[in-house]
Amino acid sequence: MAVKLAPSLLSADFSRLRDEVKRIEDSGAEWVHLDIMDGHFVPSITIGPPVVKALRPHTGLFMDAHLMVSEPERHIASFVEAGVNLLTVQAEATVHLDRVLRKIKEQGIKAGVALNPATAPAVLEYVWPLLDLVLVMSVNPGAGGQEFIPAVLPKIKAVAREIEARELTAEVEVDGGGNRTNARQIAEAGATVLVAGSAVFKAKNGMSLIKEVNTYGRKTGL
Ligand code: DX5
Ligand code: ZN
Repeated sequence: MAVKLAPSLLSADFSRLRDEVKRIEDSGAEWVHLDIMDGHFVPSITIGPPVVKALRPHTGLFMDAHLMVSEPERHIASFVEAGVNLLTVQAEATVHLDRVLRKIKEQGIKAGVALNPATAPAVLEYVWPLLDLVLVMSVNPGAGGQEFIPAVLPKIKAVAREIEARELTAEVEVDGGGNRTNARQIAEAGATVLVAGSAVFKAKNGMSLIKEVNTYGRKTGL
């Protein structure tokens, strides 16, 4: 199976989101990463359910919503209604991780947990069976265009190993600072989905990175 590249719309032209989504779809993407920020868990505010809902009829892409939002349990229903396929919540943003994951799964969509650079995967110990994806943050959440933090590479590997050891099928998504130079290394560490915003929308020939990453095989036996 191939490694997927999930372009983050955060670096797209917000005045023409529908065209930007079409552009990544035409360039071979299967997923689109939606960065939702609430001005509380992180200082910035980005988009919410109405924008996601407006895009939904115009694309067949798998909508991967990353909630950088405090108390995500309050927003699950509205994102499900907007048509996302996967909701990932930050482990640090809720004191009810088990409850929020169950609530997402009950709605019939996929569930993920994101770990900030300083958060250990140990928080996942008792929720593994509920997880479709683990998102390893490779920058501190809040903005696009930051530099990849190499200290998270062993964490990517640890998460990938744990999934294999438990014979689970959860994806290992890595988010932040991914680009043409470090993509291979991130995949080698065990990422199955790589998020990239600026490297796709702001770099020269950025769209070609989507198919390039698709040629990488998924790493096993780490
Ligand atoms: C950071 C977001 C990331 C990020 C990706 O808060 O979760 O998705 O914007 O953008 P780049 O690839 O520019 O780091
Ligand atoms: Zn993200």
